Amino acid sequence: MASDFFAGLMTMSTAPRIRVLFDEGTIAKRNEALAQEIAAAKPQNLLVVAVLKGSFMFAADLIRALHRVGLSPQVEFVHLSSYLDGTVSTGNVTILRDVESDVRGRDVLLVDDILESGRTVTFAKDLLMARGAKSVKTAVLLEKPGKRAVQIHPDYVGFTCPDVFVVGYGMDVAHSYRQLPFVGVVDHLDNSPDLFDKPGS
Ligand code: IMP
Ligand code: MG
Repeated sequence: MASDFFAGLMTMSTAPRIRVLFDEGTIAKRNEALAQEIAAAKPQNLLVVAVLKGSFMFAADLIRALHRVGLSPQVEFVHLSSYLDGTVSTGNVTILRDVESDVRGRDVLLVDDILESGRTVTFAKDLLMARGAKSVKTAVLLEKPGKRAVQIHPDYVGFTCPDVFVVGYGMDVAHSYRQLPFVGVVDHLDNSPDLFDKPGS
């Protein structure tokens, strides 16, 4: 499998080893199922707003899956930042680049990579609602339970993620690893190998 091949390559050099948590095929299947769930709610005049940078790969795959189930969303981007380089949240969310479209009266699907404290998604959802969106639903690839600092329940969740810092499939640590086609964990950032004995956990 391609993801195993990539992970294998990384172990052959001095680069840190990446453990695969969710592989390409698993993510692709889940995206198709999420698209079906989203379409079942019959959104009107749908606008997908992808939160940059981390969600770019998930959003790109999800909107193509939405197309396959018969939806024709428009697509927008908002670039938010709640992290400095590194793995520790600053707690503050700032807008680095705003959406251009008028969201008034529209069903919006907000797409992000990970829901952790919930601050990023809550900030974006409140912003779009305050601007007059008819509804704002949230789709996150990963949800880390037990980490919420604000109360928010995502409408669509790809996978429940163990409490480790993940990279790949758009997500980074200090700007690296976004290109990986799978979600994985950098070995030196986590030393809980037992997590990986339970596929899909
Ligand atoms: P929250 O605001 O605490 O919910 O954090 C969400 C944002 O933090 C996500 O959009 C990610 O960009 C980033 N983030 C949280 N956990 C991770 C991780 O494990 N790897 C990479 N980025 C993460
Ligand atoms: Mg993010």
